[in-house]
Amino acid sequence: MITGGAGFIGSHVVRLFVKKYPDYKIINVDKLTYAGNLGNLKDIENLPNYKFIKADIVDLEDMRKIIRDEKIDGIIHLAAESHVDRSIKDPFTFAKTNIMGTLSLLQAAKEYWESLPEKFEGKLFYHISTDEVYGALEITAPEGVEPPFTTEASSSDHLAYGTEFFVETTKYDPHSPYSASKASSDHFVRAYHDTYGMPTIVTNCSNNYGPYQFPEKLIPLFINNILQGRALPVYGKGENVRDWLFVEDHARAIDTIFHKGKTGDTYNIGGFNEWRNIDLIKVLIKTVDKLSGKPEGSSENLITYVTDRPGHDMRYAIDSRKLQKELGWEPSLQFEEGIEKTVKWYLENKDWVDNVTSGDYEKYYDKMYKNR
Ligand code: NAD
Ligand code: DAU
Repeated sequence: MITGGAGFIGSHVVRLFVKKYPDYKIINVDKLTYAGNLGNLKDIENLPNYKFIKADIVDLEDMRKIIRDEKIDGIIHLAAESHVDRSIKDPFTFAKTNIMGTLSLLQAAKEYWESLPEKFEGKLFYHISTDEVYGALEITAPEGVEPPFTTEASSSDHLAYGTEFFVETTKYDPHSPYSASKASSDHFVRAYHDTYGMPTIVTNCSNNYGPYQFPEKLIPLFINNILQGRALPVYGKGENVRDWLFVEDHARAIDTIFHKGKTGDTYNIGGFNEWRNIDLIKVLIKTVDKLSGKPEGSSENLITYVTDRPGHDMRYAIDSRKLQKELGWEPSLQFEEGIEKTVKWYLENKDWVDNVTSGDYEKYYDKMYKNR
């Protein structure tokens, strides 16, 4: 069972599992909120080992029924409200889905698995979380050095904006309603492991990008805005740093961890790929201009500095060496390559963008960016 399989990351996970494991029956459970779109899965929707069920994870009775009827033995839980800006406007929806939804799923899985003769054996509840639960890192550098600088944290020539990284034992310190709700759900998952012996795994991943991401997150929003000649709303001074991972690399990591990860354990997932927002935005502008036939860099005049996001975390940077060493996973793509692939996808899939932005998107856009 994959929850949130109609969303951005979930659809890549569903596609990977349905294609790679024809002997598995993959049940995609999704409420289809504004962020969920079955159009993300058109290419696999008719395959015999795939089934979609529309349901709300908050509904305990529905979760009990699905898990029992479908004889679920493994859960990869991605369903969530995922956008920080929305969580600032509406924290309750985030608490409901991310905390209560996760709790319903945990409880329904526990009840069903405990009713079986073999109980928890061969079962797994795999919870997908975020690096944002660790809070914010600072931009720092060793004496006499200007960031970004090379670090030993990665074997590649990784440039870092600070001397510290999030590791699996970093203390939780969430700042936004989104990350607070994700942190709470992570704690519930670990509590079910420690209290009831549920076989669980939690992973915390850095920022994802790639095809099928809803155009409210930085990269798809800005690609769409550049194409439409709309302003690019850069929060604050654009100096915040994020650590970017191509979504298919995240899906591969999930596959590896689902099959080889140690139950009760936690893994950080990230590509050692830190970018200051403003530098990333300039690469994005260059790539979109080049691929859409405009003079390279000409869309830089769309950059508009706007009021900062409240509680805006300065820097995220994941140390994923545990995952790399213990399970052998590595990111496959260089960032510029991933960005080019992503921009090409958005250029070739304008219908998808038109479709997902046809509902309340303009109202949302005005609410977020008018008078900012
Ligand atoms: P998304 O917003 O694109 O998709 C979320 C999906 O969950 C949608 O299909 C939506 O319909 C579904 N959903 C929402 N509420 C639901 C409910 N109550 N019941 C059933 N389904 C519901 O999110 P995403 O970016 O793909 O993120 C997926 C998961 O990965 C989330 O748990 C998120 O916290 C985590 N994560 C995301 C990133 C990232 O950069 N996007 C990074 C690390 C971790
Ligand atoms: O780190 C993992 C997290 O990454 C995930 O858990 C979240 O689900 C996902 O949304 C993402 O959170 P961020 O807040 O980092 O992503 P977002 O794309 O919203 O913003 C990336 C950076 O760009 C951040 O510093 C804020 C900035 N930004 C964002 C938007 C939407 C802007 O400057 N302008 C914008 O319009």
